[in-house]
Amino acid sequence: MSAEKKVVIIGGSSGMGLATAQRLASKGLHVVIASRSEEKLRDALSKIKGTAESKSLDFSNEQSVHSFFEWNGPFDHLVLMAAGLPAWGVLGEIQTAALENAFNTKFWGHFYCAKYAVPKLRKNGSILFTIGGAARSAIAGTAGVAAVNGAIMCMAFTLAKELAPIRVNILSPGLVDTPAYNWMTEEEKQGFFKQMGGNLPVGRVGKAEEIAEAAYYLLMNGYTTGAILDVDGGGRLH
Ligand SMILES: NC(=O)c1ccc[n+]([C@@H]2O[C@H](COP(=O)([O-])OP(=O)(O)OC[C@H]3O[C@@H](n4cnc5c(N)ncnc54)[C@H](OP(=O)(O)O)[C@@H]3O)[C@@H](O)[C@H]2O)c1
Repeated sequence: MSAEKKVVIIGGSSGMGLATAQRLASKGLHVVIASRSEEKLRDALSKIKGTAESKSLDFSNEQSVHSFFEWNGPFDHLVLMAAGLPAWGVLGEIQTAALENAFNTKFWGHFYCAKYAVPKLRKNGSILFTIGGAARSAIAGTAGVAAVNGAIMCMAFTLAKELAPIRVNILSPGLVDTPAYNWMTEEEKQGFFKQMGGNLPVGRVGKAEEIAEAAYYLLMNGYTTGAILDVDGGGRLH
């Protein structure tokens, strides 16, 4: 693996993004992790062995994304793993403002990053979008989340043709144990994972490292573009 290959990971300070940064750095790639919190970035950097640097950005803010990519480049791969705000609930209960905020963060964040990264991306490089299992199945109460992630998925398929030869792929995680669930107590979280994981064909929830492994494949395989990889323990099967 070439030591000069550089990968920018938006959302690289936590969960799947951090696990991906750790995996890529361990394989000799140069990683740049980005998210809002300087403190989280510092802490994450201390957990990455290899060549790594960090810079803060708010991916839901177009100017912030524009400045970030003016600073950074050229590079080989863009990994989009930042989270947006949630918008759960059945149709009658979902708050319109919550869904607007969900689009304003995750959808627009992915859009801005792709838009401003492309001029800095090497032509043999790639973009990896991260969506979520809600967009790959039909689960009552997840229509809003499915819409946000589905919009990203559809945009990514089209970009795989439009941006060629830059490759564009999509990773769709199911339920994965990450700090995204740290708003629950440890006991509540373990109970939730046990119950939800028990309903999956694999019998458990996923690990961030398993997502990182899938991300590594999608970045490195030069014959893969316009692909969607479900790493969801079979959660989309009904
Ligand atoms: N975990 C799951 O079960 C699951 C399931 C399906 C899909 N997903 C998707 O997978 C991706 C990764 O999730 P995760 O579980 O690894 O989440 P996580 O551990 O909560 O990490 C989220 C990352 O996004 C960054 N972030 C949040 N808002 C941001 C903003 N406005 N600008 C820049 N960075 C921002 C966070 O850092 P800062 O706070 O410092 O900004 C953090 O680095 C997300 O897109 C999520 O929707 C997760």
